Amino acid sequence: MTEPTAPRTLDQNPTAPRPASARATQGDPSVVPVFAPPPPGRRRRRYAVVGTGHRAGMYVGAVTGDHADVAELVAWCDTNPARMAYYDAEAGTALGLAGPAGLPRYGPDDLERLVVDERVDVVVVTTPDATHASLVARALDAGADVVVEKPLTTTVEGCRTVVRAVARTGRDVVMTFNYRYAPRNSALREVVASGEIGRVTSVHFEWALDTVHGADYFRRWHRDKATSGGLLVHKASHHFDLVNWWLDDVPARVYASGGLRFYGDTNAAERGLGPRPERGTGTVGDPWALDLTHDPRLKALYLDAEEHDGYRRDQDVFTSGITIEDNMAVLVDYAGGATLTYSLNAHSPWEGYRVTVNGTAGRAELEVVERGAVVLDGDGRAVLDPSATPDGVRAETARPSGERLRVQRHWEPAREWPIPSGVGGHGGGDAILLMDVFRRHLREGPDPLGRAAGYREGLRAVAVGIAANQSMATGLPVRVEDLGLGDLTPPDLPTAAAAGTG
Ligand SMILES: NC(=O)c1ccc[n+]([C@@H]2O[C@H](COP(=O)([O-])OP(=O)(O)OC[C@H]3O[C@@H](n4cnc5c(N)ncnc54)[C@H](O)[C@@H]3O)[C@@H](O)[C@H]2O)c1
Repeated sequence: MTEPTAPRTLDQNPTAPRPASARATQGDPSVVPVFAPPPPGRRRRRYAVVGTGHRAGMYVGAVTGDHADVAELVAWCDTNPARMAYYDAEAGTALGLAGPAGLPRYGPDDLERLVVDERVDVVVVTTPDATHASLVARALDAGADVVVEKPLTTTVEGCRTVVRAVARTGRDVVMTFNYRYAPRNSALREVVASGEIGRVTSVHFEWALDTVHGADYFRRWHRDKATSGGLLVHKASHHFDLVNWWLDDVPARVYASGGLRFYGDTNAAERGLGPRPERGTGTVGDPWALDLTHDPRLKALYLDAEEHDGYRRDQDVFTSGITIEDNMAVLVDYAGGATLTYSLNAHSPWEGYRVTVNGTAGRAELEVVERGAVVLDGDGRAVLDPSATPDGVRAETARPSGERLRVQRHWEPAREWPIPSGVGGHGGGDAILLMDVFRRHLREGPDPLGRAAGYREGLRAVAVGIAANQSMATGLPVRVEDLGLGDLTPPDLPTAAAAGTG
């Protein structure tokens, strides 16, 4: 591994701080794009945020901070008034006002009126996954462009809803696949595209979520497959998007197997775990418990907002009602002939990932350790966010945090492939993604890495997870074509038929 720095993609943790300012440090020019200054007098684009939970913070911070010269926040939309009030106060502070920003607040039933009355150019969708498709379609129909968080949707019907709305309106949908922008992932794209390892024949990809971050998906709406699509849609859409993008290819057939084998009441009972509290807040000395009072942001956004909708952010991970898997294995055949073997585990003692790309001329290997061990404090609690509280993270000697990309051609020794640094701290990708989201019309020249993504890339990514869910339900492989999602092939790729596979 390289130096044990903190190479985290910033938002892989629920309370991660905002991306460091894009203006704070200069990044490597190979991953940090160059943008022209906005022409004098150019009108700022008007943004509304739909879904004012944790993730909205990144966009609110960007529009009221680094990108305030090209973008303007004009309205909030959420089902919960307390969360809208939280961000309104935060935006007021960021904009240097004496009090809250005082932006108009709408419920989701009034999205169309919001777009028209507030003359919104772009709607940012940061709501729970199963709500994305209809909100995207309604925003497009009302006359706005859309920036939507992953996953694009959770179902086949959701995919069709988005495809039809884009066809009807001709409007723009930006998918914010931030993992592409993490320099280590960009570097692997560079290796594959360079031809260094030849034509890709197979990919092996293992992602391990630890007992803090992984457990967090079992505390909130993500634990419900109908709302999140399960981790193969919610989480792995990042990973499947990376493989689609690294290979410039389209998934053709998917087989998956998995189950809930660690979290949930049945597994807990089998392992002899006694009666559990229903929620983490107020629980002492339990590493599985998340106490919302320990994090002022979580307290304000969730505990103090519960009275409006009863949404509990801190449910116990060993209660009943979990309908998603915690161990998953997926086999994907690509149209171009490569095979992906993928696995996701959500109760690992360390967090990170390993990718091996085999090609006709050699092999590339990316290894990332994001947290070498989960360390408990004197009260038996785990530090929820190691990047926000680095003092609480023990330096692991046997598994130091870090990243390493090695390339080895046939008949040659292995060599380190340099991973360029991003902007801001932590080598993260979010700050670069935000530049592309808010300033892309000012970009000087095309991105050689092709990182910007639209709804087609969103479809390609969720196609694997949706097919995998179907495969787990039936025990059979699923042809992506049979899902009837429409054309997943980006314009610059050969069609599956032309590539000779199906
Ligand atoms: N790219 C990343 O790294 C990353 C990281 C975190 C979250 N996300 C994505 O961001 C989205 C939001 O995640 P989060 O952690 O902020 O969730 P959250 O539960 O904290 O916030 C969701 C918000 O949406 C509101 N909401 C629910 N239904 C709504 C509706 N129909 N209309 C309007 N508002 C509604 C909720 O009240 C809440 O305020 C998810 O799709 C998630 O996958 C992406």
